[in-house]
Amino acid sequence: MGLSGCKHLRFSGYLLKSLTCKCLLLAGLVLLFRALFFPKFPAFAGFDANYSVVTQSDPSSSLSLSNAESQIREDKFVVVPQIAWGLNNQKIAFARACLTARMMNRTLLVPSLSASLFYKEVDQLQPISFDKVFQFDKFNLLCNGFVRLGRYSDVSNQTDVFELQKGSGRKWTAERDLYQLKQSNKFPVDRYEVIKIIGKNPFLWHDHWPVKDYAKVLECIILVDKIAKEADRVVSKIRDIGKKVNPRTNLDKISGVNSESSALQPQLPYVAVHMRIEKDWMIHCKKVEQRSNKTQICSSKQEILERVGNIVGLKTPTVVYLAVADTLLEDHSILNGWREGLIPFAKKNLGVMGIYKKYPYLIQSAIDYEVCLRADVFAGNSFSTFSSLIALERTHKMIKLGVKDFCDRDVRWPSYAYNILGESKGPHRWTTDMSASNLQAISYGSDDLAC
Ligand SMILES: *[C@@H]1O[C@H](CO)[C@@H](O)[C@H](O)[C@H]1NC(C)=O
Ligand SMILES: *[C@@H]1O[C@H](CO)[C@@H](O)[C@H](O)[C@H]1NC(C)=O
Ligand SMILES: *[C@@H]1O[C@H](CO)[C@@H](O)[C@H](O)[C@H]1NC(C)=O
Ligand SMILES: *[C@@H]1O[C@H](CO)[C@@H](O)[C@H](O)[C@H]1NC(C)=O
Repeated sequence: MGLSGCKHLRFSGYLLKSLTCKCLLLAGLVLLFRALFFPKFPAFAGFDANYSVVTQSDPSSSLSLSNAESQIREDKFVVVPQIAWGLNNQKIAFARACLTARMMNRTLLVPSLSASLFYKEVDQLQPISFDKVFQFDKFNLLCNGFVRLGRYSDVSNQTDVFELQKGSGRKWTAERDLYQLKQSNKFPVDRYEVIKIIGKNPFLWHDHWPVKDYAKVLECIILVDKIAKEADRVVSKIRDIGKKVNPRTNLDKISGVNSESSALQPQLPYVAVHMRIEKDWMIHCKKVEQRSNKTQICSSKQEILERVGNIVGLKTPTVVYLAVADTLLEDHSILNGWREGLIPFAKKNLGVMGIYKKYPYLIQSAIDYEVCLRADVFAGNSFSTFSSLIALERTHKMIKLGVKDFCDRDVRWPSYAYNILGESKGPHRWTTDMSASNLQAISYGSDDLAC
């Protein structure tokens, strides 16, 4: 964004001709100025220009809670243990750490995420700083007044640290946990510059916050440009194939989906399916089914194909992007058996393996997440955290578009849970209950799909 800003600043060329960095500095000032004085201006739109109307985080909504008087303290900090596991466990854990710091009216020192997907071997988790994957400054800008991230260099006294041991075990109830947090707001603990929370990864902490608070934090988490560009490349590949498949697709047909999209540029729709059928998942979900006495958690490949094929009103032909686990990438059978008009692509036949191979697990997953988030239609498993967070963000997008009836058949950005039967033998429509009082359903799966 900074470099393209240079073009627009040429009118004052005599000042800037020499140095690019001056230009960047100026572009930065312009952005800051815009942020301060034109809060409605979409300068901080998401990286996908084609969807700026949609992915942009509306600053007025982000800031609605803040309105200056409730700023987070910048001279008191919280440190949390390294965040681990799947991308979406990490996002949830990060948001929970932010909300914990908010409760203490403290800045969260930028935490370590984990680049690799090891569950047990803690020494192999490959710590990676949050700001290597997501934009630090933009996070603070978008979440200004709500939660705040800080850097270790902001701490003035490195030894003025209070170690707060999180309790664990059955006796450590949510009430006790909340009580402990509230005590930390008071003398003598509050006096310390840094509160270092010791114990489990924040994903395992008790939850005390409503879904809409999580949604607010999640919307401030924006990929760094380098990774965002990789996601753009994958999405363009999918859309390019869409053009070849369906050359007659025209503007009328697409904008006919609903009127809200007419302001957007013509796009070829695509469906993203988060297909959870790998062995590990199947073992896990069978266990969950037994434990919870439910039958609608695991979906076989066949069930996914059939239900996605039966989505009511789906315009065909269409490209179907299959987001699958690594172990399935060599399994060509996932490309077979789709209903006529649904043309399946996975990373390999899409020719994007090279993009993914360059990165560790966390970033590969973050790219796939973006691809699913931006799909015109998304289908996932309501017991998967990955799918659930996508459904949450897509619901949030619809709210920002002013959609009233999320469950309406013609709504933009519909999501479906293929593990639950919906109308006409299709998958069940899925939106997130934004009024829920905690993140339980999203963290651990649910068959309550709010539609
Ligand atoms: C947090 O601290 C700031 C600065 O002391 C104060 O202005 C603000 O009201 C506090 N916010 C809350 C929620 O207590
Ligand atoms: C830093 O904090 C420690 C512990 O609270 C305190 O003993 C020490 O005097 C502080 N140092 C400075 C320079 O304030
Ligand atoms: C955005 O739209 C332009 C023009 O329609 C197109 O060339 C470009 O590939 C699109 N980008 C993405 C990421 O879809
Ligand atoms: C499991 O669910 C079935 C049908 O809903 C019910 O009949 C059965 O009693 C349940 N079993 C247990 C152990 O809850």
